[in-house]
Amino acid sequence: MVTHGNGLIECHGVTKTFGGVVANNDITLNVPQGRITGLIGPNGSGKTTLFNSIVGYHPIDAGSIKFKGEEISRLLVPQIARLGLMRTFQQTRIYSKMNCVDNMLISLPHREEGYRSLLTKYPPEAVERAEELLEFVGLYQKRYLISGELSFGQQKLLEFAMALISEPEVLLLDEPTAGINPTLING
Ligand SMILES: Nc1ncnc2c1ncn2[C@@H]1O[C@H](COP(=O)(O)OP(=O)(O)OP(=O)(O)O)[C@@H](O)[C@H]1O
Ligand SMILES: [Mg+2]
Repeated sequence: MVTHGNGLIECHGVTKTFGGVVANNDITLNVPQGRITGLIGPNGSGKTTLFNSIVGYHPIDAGSIKFKGEEISRLLVPQIARLGLMRTFQQTRIYSKMNCVDNMLISLPHREEGYRSLLTKYPPEAVERAEELLEFVGLYQKRYLISGELSFGQQKLLEFAMALISEPEVLLLDEPTAGINPTLING
């Protein structure tokens, strides 16, 4: 049974429709702190839709979504990300013409607003952190490879590392192992 009122993420009565399609119907669930929590369901059951609702990708029709007790269902993606709640995508979103380290560096939270941030060099600590995280996901040897040349599974690992560099408090992984060779999943 799901109780309400003590979770890190609390969804209560969340409903989301697309035209006539009810993708999420009155969803109530709690995600506790400090745990790995799974959300399972058949194709088309509304998992991705709920993730999108939680991170602010689209407005919900009814219900409440709280993060650390704060109502976030009317906030925008960047506002929610700044609170420490992020997602990865079922289809990876990496910059396929750039190498892994550069993908990591452009994923860093903005240090300065506007074009200046594009012109300033990344500090050595940032490069070090990027390399550490690439080592953590097993991509250290490939860190200067163009990311489009990685296998799909390795691209997902890169995307995971790209999300971690922002140090999110909660990271929602949408189908992290879909389409991946089982050897890589188990390894
Ligand atoms: N942007 C959209 N416009 C219209 N219908 C949508 C949209 N996004 C999702 N749907 C519909 O909402 C329902 C739930 O889809 P959703 O992608 O959330 O399911 P899922 O559980 O993530 O499925 P899968 O396991 O295949 O990833 C489906 O019927 C889908 O066709
Ligand atoms: Mg999905």
